[in-house]
Amino acid sequence: MDTLDQLVHQAAADFAAAADSAQLEQAKARYLGKSGSLTERLKGLGKLDPEARKSAGAEINRAKEAIEGALEARRVALREAALLAQLAAEALDVTLPGRGNAGGGLHPTSRTLERIEKLFRSIGFVVADGPEIETDWHNFTALNTPENHPARSMHDTFYLEGHDDVLLRTHTSPVQIRSMLAHVARHAELETMPEIRVICPGRVYRVDSDATHSPMFHQVEGLWVGENVSFADLKGVIADFLRKFFETDDLQVRFRPSFFPFTEPSAEIDVAFMSGALKGRWLEIAGCGMVHPNVLRFGGIDPERYTGFAFGMGPDRLTMLRYGVNDLRLFFDGDLRFLSQFR
Ligand code: PHE
Repeated sequence: MDTLDQLVHQAAADFAAAADSAQLEQAKARYLGKSGSLTERLKGLGKLDPEARKSAGAEINRAKEAIEGALEARRVALREAALLAQLAAEALDVTLPGRGNAGGGLHPTSRTLERIEKLFRSIGFVVADGPEIETDWHNFTALNTPENHPARSMHDTFYLEGHDDVLLRTHTSPVQIRSMLAHVARHAELETMPEIRVICPGRVYRVDSDATHSPMFHQVEGLWVGENVSFADLKGVIADFLRKFFETDDLQVRFRPSFFPFTEPSAEIDVAFMSGALKGRWLEIAGCGMVHPNVLRFGGIDPERYTGFAFGMGPDRLTMLRYGVNDLRLFFDGDLRFLSQFR
């Protein structure tokens, strides 16, 4: 029969060999279970005489404590190993790059507006701003638009419910009035008013929707008022701007007589490219004219002393031409397959 020391060593070796707690409990049963080898020894004590039983019993108990100690040590070791394995399996590498971090980009219309602002700033214009919810007075009356003008009808203009004198501005021209009034107030004490040179990019609204019209679209208003500002200045500024905007001298600009209540004389500005897909076709891109004396007066400016020109152009149209897009609605649908091409 094995000595108790051998038994203790054997148990410790078996416990160490157990790879998980199930194997460990099986190993434990072989020594400490009902018919385990140490239990058998305890049962054998009964056959000994009392003297021998006492010392043998004490030895067996020591061996039992040793085995139980080894068992507990192995239990703890297995638990720790299991915990470490779990931690390793669930580890996160926080230094890995994130997913889906695609770069954004400016909307094509924003690109055009920024470009227009930059070009006009370079010749001394400042960028002005006005409300999209506008009064009838700023949008029509002060712009010399008669009471019965068709643009004032509900078919053309979005009015605010319950307010027949408040509307979504139909053009950026009311900013002409706001700019003049603010400018005059700012320089009231001066003998000669400094020139007004503003552009105002922004959203405008009309009851209209098809491939080339959206109920919301953009305009850029321009206004230059001073002593001796002439139609020749208007032509020069616009022609120069268009060549710079399209980055080509290979285009022609045409001023076609037209009518607006707030300018006199008035013109539509057409542009034609001398090469490329649109070669030779005249495309309308803006309305313009010399600011009507009544409009100057509504702006607090003496029309006998000062003159000015104004224009209102369609940056959405300019964007379509620049990038070769044929449906205006694409700009406002929010479809990333379209928009991401401009990144
Ligand atoms: N406001 C006019 C329009 O929306 C454009 C325009 C602006 C014409 C300034 C003349 C001068 O059609």
